[in-house]
Amino acid sequence: MTFAYRALASAGLLAAMGLPALAQTEVKIGYALAPDSHYGVAATKFEEVVKTETGDDFEIKHFPSSGLGGEREVIEGLQIGTVEATIVSSGTLANFVPDTGVFDIPFLFRDLDHARAVLDGPIGQEILAKFDDVGMHGLAWGEQGFRHITNNRSAIETPEDVAGLKVRTMENPVHLAAFNAMGAAPTPMAWPEVISSLQQGVIDGQENPLSVIVSVKLNEVQKYLTLSGHVYSPAVLLVSKPFWEGLSDEQKAAFETAATEAVAAMRGYVDNVETTGVETLKERGMEVNALSAEQKAAFQASIASAYEGYYETYGKDLVDSIVNFD
Ligand code: PAF
Repeated sequence: MTFAYRALASAGLLAAMGLPALAQTEVKIGYALAPDSHYGVAATKFEEVVKTETGDDFEIKHFPSSGLGGEREVIEGLQIGTVEATIVSSGTLANFVPDTGVFDIPFLFRDLDHARAVLDGPIGQEILAKFDDVGMHGLAWGEQGFRHITNNRSAIETPEDVAGLKVRTMENPVHLAAFNAMGAAPTPMAWPEVISSLQQGVIDGQENPLSVIVSVKLNEVQKYLTLSGHVYSPAVLLVSKPFWEGLSDEQKAAFETAATEAVAAMRGYVDNVETTGVETLKERGMEVNALSAEQKAAFQASIASAYEGYYETYGKDLVDSIVNFD
């Protein structure tokens, strides 16, 4: 019956037959980056699959480039039900689901495959389920890649090079502790303020993965890029709990399929920019240096005191089980 009605609707015959049009449910999806970023690519794939799976039941409306505000505001919108969906970094997540902060620990993951396996495995899925306790539903973990430092002061090779560096961090206590331990002067700031703060010299630098540095064209406001890979940057596709609870089981399954495909598209974008991004940024005029394994080890040693705090907060067993996950 519903199928027949939908078929008439897609053939444009409802009005001709004097029948009411099918009501479409609007799904506002907010994200911080442009339509051609990894978030935009994922949100577009999400829309495509929802449409394929559910026909005209939903209209996905995109709000890219922080069109609904910073990530914290969008998450709060999900909780109160004024926004239906978002793709966000782990920036402010720990303020909502404290356990997510464990994935923000620097030098935790060996490489992208290791991070993806943990997030898609039991540890990641158990933490994802905790969004249900705070007014949201976690559909799937995505990612941005490994974060690197950009700045306008000098190339960074040792922890001494970041001494006193005014580096913008996400509003994330785990990152903040690491940059404090390194001896930098970290400034937590919501993303929508970052570009103007870099332009005005309020901060010297920031840190983000190649996916962001390339898609935002940070080369226009930053001279030096240091491939520090100091921390993996997860992203997550969330929907509002009130919205989720209003879906039928069939629709929930469709959204789950769409989320799986969306994060696969996001990871595909990241894989691509990880291989092409450095060349692109050099062509755009950035001075790029990569930390050697030895230099990286010096940075890791510089945040030993922060690690003590991470063990206290998350438990050494959990941290070790992530590090040793195969
Ligand atoms: O640096 C951040 O705040 C995040 O990585 C960004 C750029 C908003 C993407 O989620």
